[in-house]
Amino acid sequence: MISAIYDRRSIRKFLDKPISKEDILDIIQSGVKAPSSKNRQPWKYIVIQGNAKEEMLKVFRQGIDREENESALLPQSKQHISAAKYTVDIMEEAPTIIFIVNSLGKGILSELTPEEHIYEICNIQSISASIQNMLLAATEKGIGSLWICDIYFAYSELCKWINSDGQLIAAIALGYPNEFPKERPRKKLEDIVEWRN
Ligand SMILES: Cc1cc2nc3c(=O)[nH]c(=O)nc-3n(C[C@H](O)[C@H](O)[C@H](O)COP(=O)(O)O)c2cc1C
Repeated sequence: MISAIYDRRSIRKFLDKPISKEDILDIIQSGVKAPSSKNRQPWKYIVIQGNAKEEMLKVFRQGIDREENESALLPQSKQHISAAKYTVDIMEEAPTIIFIVNSLGKGILSELTPEEHIYEICNIQSISASIQNMLLAATEKGIGSLWICDIYFAYSELCKWINSDGQLIAAIALGYPNEFPKERPRKKLEDIVEWRN
């Protein structure tokens, strides 16, 4: 497990080789083993492959186009649009995409009371733990992964396309790696750990 933590990298180039359904289910099962606030297990996983993936990518690109040229949901993030386009190209190369939905989520445009806000934060932490478990399980199987939040650049389009209750949180791209990047830099412990004895 520790070696999976150290070996995991965000993979952005994939081989043209499918992942077996058994491996996909194993990876999701590892996600389901994550802790969750009050054991609410607020996660739902939508596996997208083949023609559905082609359809989704088309919708994703339409959303980015709307974000860039019409009504922007994220007007202060325009400088990240080209990176979002690159993310869609990566998703095109990956054989499997999993969308992770917060089945109890209210959505990014809802006004929340403080209690609802905390409920939402706890559910999203639970889902994040699930995603990390999935990335580690994939690493152990020699499957590359990328955690994706650029979905927010086509948020309304993708939510409409997935047509699921709850709130879309993130996507994961999975595939056999066609690159083996070095570890990306990390902050030094002495700069981020504060001891109070
Ligand atoms: C919440 C979250 C969202 C991310 N979204 C994207 C994304 O949309 N596109 C992308 O290429 N990488 C994305 N990443 C990957 C990060 O860029 C990557 O984890 C970081 O640069 C560290 O590299 P490493 O994962 O190889 O250690 C995301 C990572 C996290 C945790």
